[in-house]
Amino acid sequence: MRQHVNPLSQFFQLPLSLPSKSILFKNPHYPIHLDIGSAKGEFLIELALKFRNWNFLGLEIRETLVHSSERKRKKLGLQNLKFLYCNVNISLDEWLSDLDLDQLKRVSIQFPDPWFKRKHIKRRVLKKSLLHSIARYMCKDGELFIQSDIYALIEYMTNTIDESIYFDRKIVKGLEWLEKNPYEVSTDRELFVLKKNMIIYRAMYTRNRTLFID
Ligand SMILES: C[S@@+](CC[C@H](N)C(=O)[O-])C[C@H]1O[C@@H](n2cnc3c(N)ncnc32)[C@H](O)[C@@H]1O
Repeated sequence: MRQHVNPLSQFFQLPLSLPSKSILFKNPHYPIHLDIGSAKGEFLIELALKFRNWNFLGLEIRETLVHSSERKRKKLGLQNLKFLYCNVNISLDEWLSDLDLDQLKRVSIQFPDPWFKRKHIKRRVLKKSLLHSIARYMCKDGELFIQSDIYALIEYMTNTIDESIYFDRKIVKGLEWLEKNPYEVSTDRELFVLKKNMIIYRAMYTRNRTLFID
């Protein structure tokens, strides 16, 4: 399996029409947690098993990973979870526009990019346009959680979010980075990094009250 794909290649620029929430979930009006770059899906599977009154959607640009995550989901019979294949920078906004008002409550972007060189900055997943879509549809006090083990990448993400007027950074115990994953479930990459005793940079933002302006 190829480890990474170039999201800028022509193939991944084609918009996909993602199925609406009423097709994806048994209870389509439950609050939504969106995980961007869901990879093997373990993080959301664990959350979906724990929190039955939430819906979870994992979006992933590598199709084979989506198929394997979906196989695991189906085996467990989870109807509050779905994994979809897409380039979030192209196909997410339209899907979000179909949600109920205030339904989008959590977005996580965890260890998102292999693209740490400056020349590959355009391939990074968190762009102003994606942040704008999240800000537009997220409820007040909704959570945007990011983490990475690569300082240059987390710095880029926090700078991008700090520039937005729609999000406030949550500081816990006066520390710059959160000590723990607030959802108490680790992603695959997180487990790998923890095992190696490497540093993880984590930050939580909340959607503030600023009205969204187009
Ligand atoms: C390093 S992995 C981390 C996966 C998982 N979040 C974790 O922490 O274990 C980053 C994932 O984001 C996905 N990804 C990168 N750019 C994306 C994009 N534009 N749209 C959807 N998924 C993307 C990659 O394919 C990859 O599976």
